[in-house]
Amino acid sequence: MVHAVNEIFSWTDNPTDLLKDPLLLQKCVHESMRLHPASPVAWRTPTEPLTVASQDVTPDDLLILDLHAANRDPDIFGDDPEKFDPYRSVTYVKTELYGLTFGAGVHMCTGRDLDGGVASRPNTDKNTHQYGIVCMLIKTLLEHKMMPHKSKKPQPDLSTVRNSWGTYPVQFEQA
Ligand code: HEM
Repeated sequence: MVHAVNEIFSWTDNPTDLLKDPLLLQKCVHESMRLHPASPVAWRTPTEPLTVASQDVTPDDLLILDLHAANRDPDIFGDDPEKFDPYRSVTYVKTELYGLTFGAGVHMCTGRDLDGGVASRPNTDKNTHQYGIVCMLIKTLLEHKMMPHKSKKPQPDLSTVRNSWGTYPVQFEQA
């Protein structure tokens, strides 16, 4: 949620305008989830020898799926995959804007619709759509006129090599 708020604040000076277009707000959340997957990698141990991406692997190998890198694959997400672009259209038909952030296959996150909501389609009704908890939390914060704190700056979490925020001060009305 904090990553999404930071991306929105960096992308627009008028974040509360997103309240007029909640489907776009959800796309902002999904685009941020793509850029900042909570688990940057997924580990697998093969149960039997198999070939993955032209490489033979055995039960003695650890297979690391780099979700962070996959989510920035230009073949899937376009020429500027590092950029935050909630209007991005994804070229590969089976891929959502949030990429592999919720995993894939039989072990795909069972909480994805709860937290991420359902991805919108061109005919989606914005009044009955399932936006997901992260989007709804940010919507509520924006309704309370959340804005970046005027004097306190966000700090990264230095206790981890992962890309996380340690503190992210905001304020809710003009100082
Ligand atoms: C933004 C929030 C979340 C993210 C980014 C996320 C991400 C993921 C990822 C990447 C996996 C797959 C791990 C793998 O393949 O090794 C996973 C699995 C899982 N997630 Fe989530 N998750 C989120 C929220 C939730 C919530 C809210 C719940 C439950 C209410 C949940 C329940 C699960 C379960 C049970 C699995 C294991 C599924 C299985 O192994 O069959 N997750 N999640």
